[in-house]
Amino acid sequence: MRILFIGDVVSTPGRDMVQQYLPQLKAKYGPTVTIINGENSAGGKGITEKIYRQFLEWGTQVVTLGNHAWHNKEVFEFIDHAKYLVRPANFPEGNPGQGIVFIKINQYELAIINLQGRTFLPSIDCPFRKADELVEIAKKRTPYIFVDFHAEATSEKQALGWYLDGRVSAVVGTHTHVQTADERILTNGTAYITDVGMTGPYDSVLGVEKEAVLKKFLTEMPVRFEVVKDGRNQLNSVLIDLDPKTGLATKIQRIIINDDHPFFS
Ligand SMILES: [Fe+2]
Repeated sequence: MRILFIGDVVSTPGRDMVQQYLPQLKAKYGPTVTIINGENSAGGKGITEKIYRQFLEWGTQVVTLGNHAWHNKEVFEFIDHAKYLVRPANFPEGNPGQGIVFIKINQYELAIINLQGRTFLPSIDCPFRKADELVEIAKKRTPYIFVDFHAEATSEKQALGWYLDGRVSAVVGTHTHVQTADERILTNGTAYITDVGMTGPYDSVLGVEKEAVLKKFLTEMPVRFEVVKDGRNQLNSVLIDLDPKTGLATKIQRIIINDDHPFFS
């Protein structure tokens, strides 16, 4: 099984990049499954039903979320019916939506788990213990288990990677919007990367207009952050191959598309 995971899609520029490059990425790499983190896909924060459906129409099987899951109020109208939308599983008990989803592709079944870190983010339930609970449930059905860990701190992400090493197929980090160059297979066979990076405005600070962020740093005055609307864009993703028998990873590869790393089909 080959998984293509596209990092945090930011607003229209990010969605445009997915629409433009996903067919080419599929043609070149032939992923069995495509997963997208869409927590920033509606105006930089949150997701709408229209965008979620677009991702599926463009050939994505599952969309993951993160700390901005609830930002766009429209999410409450559709999340409980969105079969392929996953929000952090360690949100407080009783929150809408689901933290794990199973999808069937050919003869495979893949479990996709979304978790959120607690370091420099709200102190929700423990992602480690929630992971234990969900991995046990998933293992009863399939050896293929993918985890999107939406977290700020590198240490927390590495720690969860090691915690789940050998128990899941992959732990990929999202949220910080800058792709890290530490992709590897951990010693017991789990694919790991601290952060997959961001899909959206290239000439920006994490997707936001750089002038506004600079003004904030220089003046410490209140500043309105807007996502960059025009200009050069980027796509950040990873490709992960899994052993058909064990579900453990055999390869993880970073894919960056921008003007400094052009895509060749
Ligand atoms: Fe985030």
